[in-house]
Amino acid sequence: MDTLTLASHGPVIPVIVINRLEEAVPLARALVEGGVRVLEVTLRTPVALAAMEAIAKAVPEAIVGAGTVRNVADARAALDAGCRFAVSPGYLHDVGVACRSIGLPLLPGVATGSEVMQANADGYQFLKFFPATAAGGIPMLKALAGPFHDVRFCPTGGITAETAPQFLALPNVAVCGGSWLTPADAVEAGDWARITELARATSRLRLA
Ligand code: 3PG
Repeated sequence: MDTLTLASHGPVIPVIVINRLEEAVPLARALVEGGVRVLEVTLRTPVALAAMEAIAKAVPEAIVGAGTVRNVADARAALDAGCRFAVSPGYLHDVGVACRSIGLPLLPGVATGSEVMQANADGYQFLKFFPATAAGGIPMLKALAGPFHDVRFCPTGGITAETAPQFLALPNVAVCGGSWLTPADAVEAGDWARITELARATSRLRLA
């Protein structure tokens, strides 16, 4: 799979933190029910790998990926857990090469021109711009469009339902990432209907 395919499923890739394994499948089902199929589950909790595996097995409509991939071991573990893509918060040549060699599509994170150049040199043209708001937001994405006219971005970090339409309107933005579809209090309370509604609302973001 080409990572740009991930952007063809909708305007938002939810960044998900799962603290309790039993939340994984109902949370994934709630997002899929709302039309959001591409799910980035972050490698930030002890149950993250088990959660990815559970979703990959129980929710076939979901396209599960691993977020917060920081090294080659993370990438291998994600693949073993059934992940179909990986997202990294920054870029490391070793991780880029390893993902290619194990056949795990990678959306690598960048925040500067040098990092874009390094990722491009290793064959990556679709990049996560992270942390999007803190690293310059929309003006930075507009500035990067000049020298990097052939690069598309998935800005992530500090984006909300209110600001997403402005990011999505930029020609070099293919999709946005963010945690606002899975608020911690809704997950904690098992309020899956609210998560389905937040997911459903993303389909209107490109028109906003
Ligand atoms: C992250 O890695 O935590 C993501 O960038 C999500 O950021 P957000 O919580 O600001 O959407």
